[in-house]
Amino acid sequence: MRRRNLLGVAAAAGVVGATTTYGGGSTAAIAAPGAPPLDPTDWSSVRAQFAISPDLAHLSTYVFAPHPASVRASIAQHRAGLDADPSGYLHENGGRLDQAAAAAAADYLGSRISDIAFTDSTTMGLGLLYGGLRLRRGDEVLTTEHEFYSTHEALRLRAQRDGVAVRRVRLYADPAKASTDEIVGNLIRGVTRRTKVVAVTWVHSSTGVKLPIQAIARALRGRGVLLCVDGVHGFGAEEADPAELGCDFLVSGCHKWVLGPRGTGLVWGSAAGWARYAPVIPTYDGRSIGAWLGLPGDPAPPGQAATPGGFHTFEHRWALAEAFAFHKAIGQDRVAARTRELATALKAGLAGIRGLKLATPKSPHLSAGVVCCEVPGINVDEAVARLRELKVVASSTPYRPSLLRFGATIINNEADVEATLKAVRTLV
Ligand SMILES: Cc1ncc(COP(=O)(O)O)c(C=O)c1O
Repeated sequence: MRRRNLLGVAAAAGVVGATTTYGGGSTAAIAAPGAPPLDPTDWSSVRAQFAISPDLAHLSTYVFAPHPASVRASIAQHRAGLDADPSGYLHENGGRLDQAAAAAAADYLGSRISDIAFTDSTTMGLGLLYGGLRLRRGDEVLTTEHEFYSTHEALRLRAQRDGVAVRRVRLYADPAKASTDEIVGNLIRGVTRRTKVVAVTWVHSSTGVKLPIQAIARALRGRGVLLCVDGVHGFGAEEADPAELGCDFLVSGCHKWVLGPRGTGLVWGSAAGWARYAPVIPTYDGRSIGAWLGLPGDPAPPGQAATPGGFHTFEHRWALAEAFAFHKAIGQDRVAARTRELATALKAGLAGIRGLKLATPKSPHLSAGVVCCEVPGINVDEAVARLRELKVVASSTPYRPSLLRFGATIINNEADVEATLKAVRTLV
C-alpha cells in the first residue's frame, strides 16, 4: 500500500492528517439556525447563543456545559452527514475536520498541534497521563490533599500497578486565607530527591483556590520534576497559555468552562513532558497505522501518538473547532475578565451575608470562577435543593467537607448573581 493510499484509510478511520502543522486557524463560523447573530461585544447576545432554560439562574454550567448555537449547529451538521453515510462522510471529511479541531485548539493554547492529545474528558486525560508517564519503581509522585477523585484515583491505580510511590501534602490550612508563599512553601517542602512528578490542580473544585502555577513552576525549576496540572477549572475561565504557566502537562475537559462539546477534552504537553510519556491506548494516526503495516515514514508526533484511537463521537470532537472559535471571537482576555467580574460580585455579596463563611479567597490572584461557601446549620445537598426551588442552580462539592458551590460563566449576568444572593439569604 502506498503512503497516499494509507492516508485515505487513515482519513476513513478518522485519524489526524500525517503532517505536523502549527496553530493559527479554525473553521469559519457555522450558521446557527434559530439563534440570533452573535455580537461578541454584547454579553446578552453571548447568553442568547445558549438554549438554557430562561427561568433558572444557571450558576453551574461549568459542571457540564450547555453548547452555544454554533457548536449545536456543527454537531447537528456532522451528525446528519454521519447518519446519512457513516463511512462515506468519515472518509470524505475526517482528516480535514480532525485537522481543523486540532488547529483551533492549538491556536487557543498558543501551541503546536503536535503538542496536544485529544481525549473525551479530564478524567480520561489524567488517567492516560498518570498511567503513561515513564517512572520506575520507587520514583515518587508528589500530589496534594486538594485533588479531585480523578487525580487521586489515577495515581492510586498507577501505584498499585508498578510500585510508583505517591505522597500527598496539604497546601493551605484555611482556603480563604491561603497565600502564594504558604502554597509554594508547603509544596516545595514535600519535594524529595525521589520526586519525579508533581501533580496539582490549577483551580480547586473543593474550595475555589487557584494555585499560583507560575510560582510553583519557578520553584521547581532545575529539580528534574515534571509539573502536571489538572487545568479544568482554569481552562476557559482564565487566559490559559500553558507555556506561560510553565507547566509540563495541562489536562482539561472542554465541556466545562470552555462550554464546548460534551465528551471532549485534551492533554497539552511540553517537549520535555512528552519525552517522558509512553502512550497507553493505540492511536489511529496514519503514521502509527503505517508503521504497523511496515511502511516507511516518520512516527506520529507526541500529541497524536497519545490521542486514543478507536472510532468515537466524531461530531462532538469536530465541533470543538466552533467552541474555540466562539471564545476567540469574544476574546480570551474578555472571557477571563467577565468571569472574574461576576465571581467578584458573587463573593462580595456572599461575604456580606451574616452567618455564611466564604471559603474561596477574594483575591483574583488566588481564585478564578469557582466560588465556595459554608452555610452552617444546613446540609449542603439540602441547600442545593432549596436553591433549585428558588430557581437557582448551584452544586455541592464532592469532597469532605462538602461546600456549597457556584460558578458564573460567560452565559451569566448580574441578574443571575443578584438572584443567587437573594436565594442564599433565605438559607441562613
Ligand atoms: C478538578 C476536577 N478535575 C476533573 C474533574 C472531572 O472532569 P471530567 O468530567 O471532564 O472528567 C472535575 C469535576 O468534574 C474536577 O472538579
